[in-house]
Amino acid sequence: MIAYTGLNEQSHGWVVAESAFDARYLAKYETIFCQGNGYMGLRAAHEESYPGERRNLFVAGTYNRFGVQEVTELPNAADMIQLDIRLNGRPFHLEKGKLLQYRRELDLRKGELKREMLWEDEQGEWFKLSFRRFVSLYDRHLIGQRVEITPLKHDADISIRSSINGQLTNSGAQHFIEGDRRVFDKELIQYTATTTETGIVFVHTLAHQLLENGVRIEAAPAPSMERRKVSLTYKRKVAAGKTLTLDKLASMHTSLDLEWESLDALHLQQAARHHLRKAEELGYCGQFRKHEEAWQAFWNESSIEMDSQDAFDQLAIRFAQYHLVLMTPAHDSRFSVGAKGLTGEGYKGHVFWDTEVFILPYFLYTHPEIARNLVTYRYHTLNGARSKARDNGYEGAMYPWESALTGEEETPEWGPVDIVTGTPTYIWTGKIEQHITADVAYGVWHYYQATSDQAYMDQYGYEILFETATFWASRLEWNDEKGQYHITDVIGPDEYKEHVANNAFTNYMAYWNITKAMACMKQLREADSQVYQRLNEKLGLAERLKVWEEKSALIYLPKPDETTKIIPQDDTYLMKQVIDLSKYRNQEQVASILNDYSMTQLSDIQVSKQADILVLFYLLEDWFTKETKAANWHYYEPKTLHDSSLSLSTHSMLASDVAESELAYEMFQKACQIDLGTNMHSSDEGIHTASIGGIWKAAVMGFGGVRSWEGALRLNPRLPEAWERLSYPLAWQGERLRVTITKQEMKIERLNPDSVQKPIRMTIHGKAYELVDQMLSISLEGGDLA
Ligand code: BGC
Repeated sequence: MIAYTGLNEQSHGWVVAESAFDARYLAKYETIFCQGNGYMGLRAAHEESYPGERRNLFVAGTYNRFGVQEVTELPNAADMIQLDIRLNGRPFHLEKGKLLQYRRELDLRKGELKREMLWEDEQGEWFKLSFRRFVSLYDRHLIGQRVEITPLKHDADISIRSSINGQLTNSGAQHFIEGDRRVFDKELIQYTATTTETGIVFVHTLAHQLLENGVRIEAAPAPSMERRKVSLTYKRKVAAGKTLTLDKLASMHTSLDLEWESLDALHLQQAARHHLRKAEELGYCGQFRKHEEAWQAFWNESSIEMDSQDAFDQLAIRFAQYHLVLMTPAHDSRFSVGAKGLTGEGYKGHVFWDTEVFILPYFLYTHPEIARNLVTYRYHTLNGARSKARDNGYEGAMYPWESALTGEEETPEWGPVDIVTGTPTYIWTGKIEQHITADVAYGVWHYYQATSDQAYMDQYGYEILFETATFWASRLEWNDEKGQYHITDVIGPDEYKEHVANNAFTNYMAYWNITKAMACMKQLREADSQVYQRLNEKLGLAERLKVWEEKSALIYLPKPDETTKIIPQDDTYLMKQVIDLSKYRNQEQVASILNDYSMTQLSDIQVSKQADILVLFYLLEDWFTKETKAANWHYYEPKTLHDSSLSLSTHSMLASDVAESELAYEMFQKACQIDLGTNMHSSDEGIHTASIGGIWKAAVMGFGGVRSWEGALRLNPRLPEAWERLSYPLAWQGERLRVTITKQEMKIERLNPDSVQKPIRMTIHGKAYELVDQMLSISLEGGDLA
């Protein structure tokens, strides 16, 4: 069972545990206990193997396409964690013998996974076993693993076979050509493999040290080789009560790594061995300490704290921050965050709007230097987006719904069988879920507002804004009858409505994108900046501006109804039938409605998969009144099944905006349950990265009230009843702040005192304030928080 408390006081709020072994739930724990550092992600498969396990190791950005009928995906690298352990000649396996004690826990403070057991084998012998591992936050190429085995009743023959196993696949797709298998200096093994299409060389290197009762012993492990596999087997007779320890340090290097880009496979292998030999000087414990210090530094800078009546809240926000570190390739702007991060095969490592709308905000307001990488990724993929626009008969840049390394569209065409029709479902999102293009532009702008990073805009940002605006201008369709521009045949954020016309979210965001580009271009032109001249030469800006001005003035923007304030989600949503959705709203597994209705049938019902117009209210918050937001929340939420993990956090944040704090809290807690909760299969395919980013958004942007609008900082805190205090770090235009909110007061403190000269302006519940010195303290009592 999943447990949320530590074994001692200090670890409460930091530890997630599995308190009993159950082979039915391997995948859940493999995902939530995943370890990583943004360079690589290691799923938490056990050391010993079980049927149904998904033994995954992914390296960010290393996409490969297995065959012409497939889309590109992150290939599953060779496994370096699995161990074949034999005790007195019989395999160690938890489905045999008796498990007398068991606990596995992930410690978020130090990114350590630990499993401790007391096991009785079928002969009645007792063994104490302990396994620990980490994926280093200090050295991103490094994985550490420690095994300790103590026979408790009698002396025992212990054999441990440790391998680099390249026989693994991605659900059957083998992405690698086998390369060298080598054994060096008896205890170091190396396996090289190259991706079939992209030719990326993966070098896996693994070093070992054997110890008895803490003392290193010279061992002569037996090497062996099979196809795509190289192993070492250690054998030792261990006296009762003595502990045999095997320490492993493993490294992963690929020819895509910027540090080694110029090296051929042979030199990369050498560099990897050199790297691991150096790492070995500190040994497992020394490397673990470095890793622990790196996590400590992270938490010192980034920790969010709260006093809540429910201790789960604190754990959930830390769990979210832990996974935000794992999922984000902070080291390299060529890559971005996949919808499942590096925790599973789900969505094949592809990048969606999830990044800009759900994940980027965390980095903008906490680690802006990482946010810069995420928005730069969209510049690296701009040419791909340009080709997509051209291929579809449009101009400018049309970003792919699913993106990988190049910016070309990566969405697969066919999905699972439609239960009602019995035929595979055609996946339309890659063709018609087009709002992504405006979401990318919004991400760029949002980054600029929160950081004032002019260099980024000059080099990359403006070009993205102009190219995306150009796409929209070419995408608009003239409707003669209405004398307006429409956008038909799209999917909005709500993916239960395909082929709709004038999805409000899409139309408004297209309008925002074009008008924002207009404003930027005019400003650049007036300043007659070099950037203007360069981009004008490259893109022909002067002609574009005219088109944008003419067209944007005539885009149809669905307005709230005068009485009800409801904005139609699209041209026909409000005319569709309303059915009783309670069966699906109380479902145990998401998307149960698809067992009863085909996608076409869903199109005729007022039912939504996820927040749609509410996301618009969050992005363009000043364009809509609070009354409109509240009315639409209450109209659409009962029709929403939250079948996408992106939905609950958005509902929570918007409920905070319309002063429905208790609803906001209820939705926040439900969002926290998506991965961390007791649904034992919700995370099998990998973590829901957007939902993880959404948890931070609901807490800090919702309850903490952080927003920015056109370069101005706003703080409108509204704590739920259950919270007495919330404290979070906030990065704002080069300054680092810490905000602490209680029911009575709000404190904003500077963390870098040398910048005290520069006053920081903000509005708090609509009133203007300036942080002039070190700290600003404001009473929240008795004020009108409306
Ligand atoms: C959601 C999309 C999301 C995607 C990846 C889908 O189920 O409907 O909004 O981008 O998952 O997370």
